[in-house]
Amino acid sequence: MKPVEYYKDREQTYLKHLFLERYLETVAYHIGYSHKEFAYVDCFSGPWHTWDEELGDTSIRIALDRLNSVRNGLAQQKRYPTIRAIFVEKSAAAFASLEQALQEHRGDIKTLALPGTFEENIARILDQVGSTFAFFFVDPTGWSGFSMDNLRPILKRANGEVMINFMYDFINRFLGFQDAANEGSLDRCFGTKTWRSIREASDRESALVNLYMEQVRATGGFPYVTSSRILKPLQDRAYFHLIYATRNPKGVEEFRNVERKVVTAQENIRATAQREDREKRSGQPEFEFATDGPSSAFQAERSQQLRNAKMKIIELLQKRADTIRSASAPYSATAPRLEQ
Ligand SMILES: C[S@@+](CC[C@H](N)C(=O)[O-])C[C@H]1O[C@@H](n2cnc3c(N)ncnc32)[C@H](O)[C@@H]1O
Repeated sequence: MKPVEYYKDREQTYLKHLFLERYLETVAYHIGYSHKEFAYVDCFSGPWHTWDEELGDTSIRIALDRLNSVRNGLAQQKRYPTIRAIFVEKSAAAFASLEQALQEHRGDIKTLALPGTFEENIARILDQVGSTFAFFFVDPTGWSGFSMDNLRPILKRANGEVMINFMYDFINRFLGFQDAANEGSLDRCFGTKTWRSIREASDRESALVNLYMEQVRATGGFPYVTSSRILKPLQDRAYFHLIYATRNPKGVEEFRNVERKVVTAQENIRATAQREDREKRSGQPEFEFATDGPSSAFQAERSQQLRNAKMKIIELLQKRADTIRSASAPYSATAPRLEQ
């Protein structure tokens, strides 16, 4: 993929692409090594806001290049899976560029471009992937077009994983807007009206992201759903969250390995973007120091996540203790709880 310089003032997109590139490589390699087929589906493919004639800064080119290199790597291991990439794009102009990019692409990846909306292409996508293991990338421009009902058949597939760009910043801006059409579209996005009670929550971001993850988990019957937060380059606030759903604990491990690399890149990129912004505003150049360990925003985020993990473990242990206690209820119905 293109270096971060190509992504000036949209560094969050670079981080999204870095995540996609690294995770796609991992999952395609693992599946390609042990299966005859692997499919990648870019449900909202673009191209979108590209600064490169060859689309090197789009998910289309990034995925094709990475899948090709995976295929070459697997061939060296004497593994020759069929690797397919399916792209869906609604805008006619963007679709024309997509088709051209696929025609010009050299490599052994089998590609298919589907014109129209994701919603109207769901049946074709499902038909194309069949029972092949598929990785779905859902990267819309806002929150329309990917209602929980639309996602359901994709999420329910037994053989696959999904990565969704949950546009938190965008959604958050419309949360308090009490208009029936706006509320209805958010109901469809979450697949529930419960988000409405989160409007006044003290930690709205966590509450919203957790609700969305829970909806993805319940809709698809996924045992594992997790997320990674991508921050705004100049502010300590989230731009979006990448939500990841899998049926395999190994997937979570790999997702976290990729996240570790992306977080390091994010820290460096944000430090540079913030220094350049200060220089622009003050007109004074600053010395370029190597970043001095993780930022305060990163440390606060990490501490919060560790607190969440601790609470989760206590909750799980408490549940387990309650199950054991109720299983032995005939003997201990009147006995006090151990901790009392
Ligand atoms: C955020 S851009 C995708 C960017 C791309 N994934 C990347 O990372 O380079 C979203 C794309 O989805 C297209 N789009 C919007 N609504 C859509 C829908 N309902 N179905 C399919 N494509 C849609 C837009 O035209 C736009 O090209």
